[in-house]
Amino acid sequence: MPVERLRATARGVVAAALLAAAGAAWAQAVPPAPARAAACMACHGAEGRSRDPQVPSLAGQPRTFVENQLVLIREGLRPVPAMQGLLDGVPDAELVALAQYFAALPPPPAAAATDGAAYQRGQALASRMLCGTCHLPGYGGQQQVPRIAAQPEPFLLASMKQLRDRPGPGRDTIMAAALHGLKDADLADLAHFLAHFQPPSPAR
Ligand code: HEC
Ligand code: HEC
Repeated sequence: MPVERLRATARGVVAAALLAAAGAAWAQAVPPAPARAAACMACHGAEGRSRDPQVPSLAGQPRTFVENQLVLIREGLRPVPAMQGLLDGVPDAELVALAQYFAALPPPPAAAATDGAAYQRGQALASRMLCGTCHLPGYGGQQQVPRIAAQPEPFLLASMKQLRDRPGPGRDTIMAAALHGLKDADLADLAHFLAHFQPPSPAR
């Protein structure tokens, strides 16, 4: 898959996604786990629900997002040191199957917020910064835009800092624009809110 095309698709909001936004309950049929999925779950957690604060959950991520990231990671375009070499030579078809599998798993539930004030500041900021236009109002993501609800708080904070300050190769610079001017304390509030945000069921 040419990377130019990946980058091209990683632009703007696709109209079709609005249909997904209106979509019904979490009713995707989960395909059988590809053999390689067990290796992924060692870090990304059983059922794709991460228990590691630095590692994102994969369950319920939009399929296109996972597929794109797997290609970028395999090609070394998005450096993920923990996954270095892991995808060497893995054919596209297997990456597609992995993406399909993880996308179909139900997303993790969010734990209750521990800091109500930070949660409210983060919620107001996310609303003012229009994060939901791309990530959708339930922050479940769509197409090439990732799910950011109920991800581990430290992962969210670290990835926002990275996307704001040094997106690096293979990352979509659109997020640098979306986070422009936000201070570290703002990102911490956003991370606290998103990590503990439970989209009203059954929105994704
Ligand atoms: C040794 C631990 C480890 C293993 C094994 C591993 N990953 Fe990862 N993966 C990570 C870490 C850590 C990140 C986050 C990197 C970052 O913060 O930028 C990541 C990021 C990702 C991302 C990007 C997600 C996002 O939200 O940005 C995808 C997709 C992914 N991994 C899929 C997989 C798949 C599929 C497998 C199995 C073939 C796998 N990973 C195996 C540690 C691992
Ligand atoms: C114009 C569309 C757009 C807007 C607005 C936007 N995002 Fe994003 N966001 C993206 C895309 C696309 C990515 C994936 C980046 C990539 O592929 O490298 C992303 C990635 C992220 C990630 C990394 C998640 C992961 O798993 O790797 C976080 C966290 C995030 N956004 C939070 C936010 C927050 C908080 C806001 C509001 C302040 C916001 N985004 C506004 C499009 C957007």
